[in-house]
Amino acid sequence: MLYTKSGKEVSKIGIGTWTIKKENIDDEVKSLQFYFNQGVNYIDVVLAYDNGAVLDVVAKFLKSVKREDIFLNVFITHGCAKIADVEEQIKVYLNKLGVDYFDCITLHSPAVLGFDFKEYVKEIKRLHTKYKFLNIGYSNLSPAQFEQVKDHISFFEGLYNLENKINDDNGIIDYCIQNNIPFYAYQPLRRNRTAKQNYNKVVSLADKYSKTQNQILINWMIKHKNIGTLIKASKQEHIKENVEALNFEMTEKDYKLLDNFRNKEFDKIPFSYCNEEGKIRIDQIPNQPIGIL
Ligand SMILES: NC(=O)c1ccc[n+]([C@@H]2O[C@H](COP(=O)([O-])OP(=O)(O)OC[C@H]3O[C@@H](n4cnc5c(N)ncnc54)[C@H](OP(=O)(O)O)[C@@H]3O)[C@@H](O)[C@H]2O)c1
Repeated sequence: MLYTKSGKEVSKIGIGTWTIKKENIDDEVKSLQFYFNQGVNYIDVVLAYDNGAVLDVVAKFLKSVKREDIFLNVFITHGCAKIADVEEQIKVYLNKLGVDYFDCITLHSPAVLGFDFKEYVKEIKRLHTKYKFLNIGYSNLSPAQFEQVKDHISFFEGLYNLENKINDDNGIIDYCIQNNIPFYAYQPLRRNRTAKQNYNKVVSLADKYSKTQNQILINWMIKHKNIGTLIKASKQEHIKENVEALNFEMTEKDYKLLDNFRNKEFDKIPFSYCNEEGKIRIDQIPNQPIGIL
């Protein structure tokens, strides 16, 4: 279980920030405040988004809430050619966000590092004692990399949605659940593309419970799979719809229909956890041109 510094349980829906644009700063900050006022107290920030300008939007939002009431997770991202760049990124986050601690620092992916993953692990443990951050997180690890860090990990962010179940297949989600390591899914709605496929099973569950398809998906992941979901949503009607997805229960049999769902087209994609030639990197799998886009 994760907590904010003020002791509040961290919401199972987290705020994603990919495609948030500084040019719309006032509207984006209003959306973040609306999200927060709906009880969502976790935000994910990646320096690479909007060429770093996303930090200005998040900084303005953070000034409008009590810092200790929000769980702030910053990501070590592209641009780490050498080990010293990790600390440099931490300094950029501290300065640009105007904060004096992080709730979590997460490695976006070993693919963003220009040096050995083992070196990163050593470095983040050193920085953990130097800087005030409370949790060490990882994302997009292979099972072998996961094995190397599972003794000190306290957060994992991974690909998960109805069609992309690699982190189920490789056992990482099960391990996290059994060991109380919060697992948060990115692209849980596959940027609304899952709903656009109008899969019979999802459409009939939406009809049965009088909910939208996205509400069925969020409800299944949080209430049944016991994982968190990171959802980027700027439109208030989306935010409301997503938060209201937690106000109902489905039957065990219906949840199992979603557990057992597979899309063979996605399952056939040759993938890698890093940059292996001829394979699609794990974080790019949900963006492959399959079905209705
Ligand atoms: N660690 C990694 O490798 C990694 C990779 C990808 C993403 N992430 C993180 O995970 C977050 C979430 O992933 P994502 O943003 O790629 O995908 P997502 O959250 O599945 O989808 C976001 C998109 O779906 C729309 N949306 C949200 N709720 C909706 C609803 N109820 N009905 C219809 N459309 C809805 C949003 O529209 P509006 O904005 O118009 O409301 C937005 O365009 C990212 O923002 C990022 O922070 C991490």
